[in-house]
Amino acid sequence: MEKQALLYEGKAKKVYATDDANILLVEYKDDATAFNGLKKGTIQGKGAINNRVTNFMMRLLEEKGVPTHYVKELSDRETLVKKVQIVPLEVIIRNISAGSFAKHYGVEEGIVFDAPTIEFSYKNDELGDPLLNAYHALALKLATPEEIETIKRYAFTVNDVMKEFFASIGVTLVDFKLEFGRLADGTIVLADEISPDTCRFWDSVTHEKLDKDRFRRDLGNVEGAYQEMMKRIMG
Ligand code: TMP
Repeated sequence: MEKQALLYEGKAKKVYATDDANILLVEYKDDATAFNGLKKGTIQGKGAINNRVTNFMMRLLEEKGVPTHYVKELSDRETLVKKVQIVPLEVIIRNISAGSFAKHYGVEEGIVFDAPTIEFSYKNDELGDPLLNAYHALALKLATPEEIETIKRYAFTVNDVMKEFFASIGVTLVDFKLEFGRLADGTIVLADEISPDTCRFWDSVTHEKLDKDRFRRDLGNVEGAYQEMMKRIMG
């Protein structure tokens, strides 16, 4: 499969066309941003780690019955994926209070919920990815009622699968963000990435943060945390 024109460059990835109109090539960068691009930096080796971690999770989720856009890992940083139209919703699942949840509701981080929460943001950088509910998403025609039901069902399945997997490697899955896409025939599949950029991971014993919060909050040893997650996941 040949890498062709650059179609899109985002904050953490580039997307290229290939010689197959239904397949895209994603290239992961070491660039890191936070707070809607206000904070910028580089995390050495992040691209390769996020590529490999994402693909590992996509393969695991496919096995557990969640359809994904994943096709094939090409290299350290490059992966082939099915072309999708991204549903402009960031789907966030939380098991433990942290980040914007703790801030919005004035609670400490680390409260373990009795049941996971789900929330949506409108994926729109100009507006700062505002929070919205399913009725708002319908009003804005971002997705159909059936698509929202499918997305919710898959998102909770992803949580069940990932919580169990990460527990087995000594990591508590605090929260994470997913994105979904539509294939040409309208089928909803999991897309984008699942990595330390898009999840909060805490060591199960020490509660040490092993994710992008180390970058967002200037906690130091950012590269070390990404490497540690890759080591635990890949064995
Ligand atoms: P939050 O607590 O800042 O709302 O973040 C919730 C989860 O979503 C956390 O695991 C980090 C992830 N996330 C992204 O992947 N992209 C983003 O732009 C933001 C704000 C959060």
